[in-house]
Amino acid sequence: MTLTEVAHGTLAGLAEINGTGRDASRGGYSRHIWQPAELELREWFIERAVRLGLDVETDRNGNIWAWWGAPGSNAVVTGSHLDSVPGGGAYDGPLGVISALDAIARLQSTGFTPRRPCAILVFAEEEGSRFGVACLGSRLLTGAISPERARGLTDGDGIRFDAAAAGAGLDPAHIGRDSEALERIGLFIELHVEQGRGLIDLGEPVAVASSILAHGRWQLRFTGEGNHAGATPMDGRRDPMIAAARATVAIRDAARAREGSYAQGSRATVGRIDAIPGGTNVIASTVTATLDVRAETDEETRALVSDIEALAADAATKENCAVLVTEESWSSVVHLDPELRSQVASTLGGIPTLSTGAGHDAGVLASVVPSAMLFVRNPTGISHSPDEFAELDDCLAGVTALESVLRELLQ
Ligand code: GLV
Ligand code: MN
Ligand code: MN
Repeated sequence: MTLTEVAHGTLAGLAEINGTGRDASRGGYSRHIWQPAELELREWFIERAVRLGLDVETDRNGNIWAWWGAPGSNAVVTGSHLDSVPGGGAYDGPLGVISALDAIARLQSTGFTPRRPCAILVFAEEEGSRFGVACLGSRLLTGAISPERARGLTDGDGIRFDAAAAGAGLDPAHIGRDSEALERIGLFIELHVEQGRGLIDLGEPVAVASSILAHGRWQLRFTGEGNHAGATPMDGRRDPMIAAARATVAIRDAARAREGSYAQGSRATVGRIDAIPGGTNVIASTVTATLDVRAETDEETRALVSDIEALAADAATKENCAVLVTEESWSSVVHLDPELRSQVASTLGGIPTLSTGAGHDAGVLASVVPSAMLFVRNPTGISHSPDEFAELDDCLAGVTALESVLRELLQ
């Protein structure tokens, strides 16, 4: 089945937003919070939800709620996010939002009346691609990040979160834990494209999630001495780029060295290196490197970070530079609610269970409400890349699964 064939039915949303936020230079999509593409997606979602007769509201943290029936307590809430990483795929986030819209549309078309309140929740800044902290909307909602810290986060252009929030019509003085909104959530279920090869190996289209790796983000700031590329001999330089390069290789090796201790292995990634001032004929004075570390337990993750801190210090010393390591965010390992998970699995006829190395808003919500996730097979096994993919038949299986789970939970 092709996108054109689904243009008017279930999954039409994939075709409708296919052109929004395409990134011509990176490939894929760049849809970052409160920038034009993401604002367009918000409008698109609101229009789609209103068409289904849902009542839409944006909460004080920028998350969008679309209520089927009157808002109330013990609600069944489903959803995901619309933002992307830079140059991301089409499915990470939007698939969960579109599937939620379609599952509700299908329930409505069969005349089903929910006995509990139900809402679609679209989280803000899940990827942390603009302000650096992943799952920022769900962290603010649950109080997992302080409003003070969130207000002061800056994007790559130095724009503060509070200024951007005000520009988007929020009152930055009122961001933060929203007990009233949280009290309405009875349970949360997020459908998501799988971001690894689990379902390929199992030969199944859909799975239920068991756990999410512990993970966090750090910044490594190497400082040396800025100087002229031509006039400075190679000996005696204090080049933080070389220190960062040494550290990057050491970080990969450190994560590999721990690979054997757990079934899933540990992961450490330097995804971005920025040089200041950043000139071709300039030895940098400062280099910042981002660090993403994940492992199967909190202890294992912390232990790897502590190895990395020592390795980064050693790399800096070898180049006569200094390094400062700063933690930017932390997420403990999440074991999704066993009861809800087995209810979902039994509703769906015993589908397989998978753990994931990707972070999700469902993982943040899991600390306050029973939460579950459904994964849809990704035949490339690749994500956070334009190569991320899902066959439409598998996406349809995902919508059918979500529809069945909602029907069961709402009756
Ligand atoms: C989000 O997808 C993450 O795992 O960082
Ligand atoms: Mn993602
Ligand atoms: Mn996602």
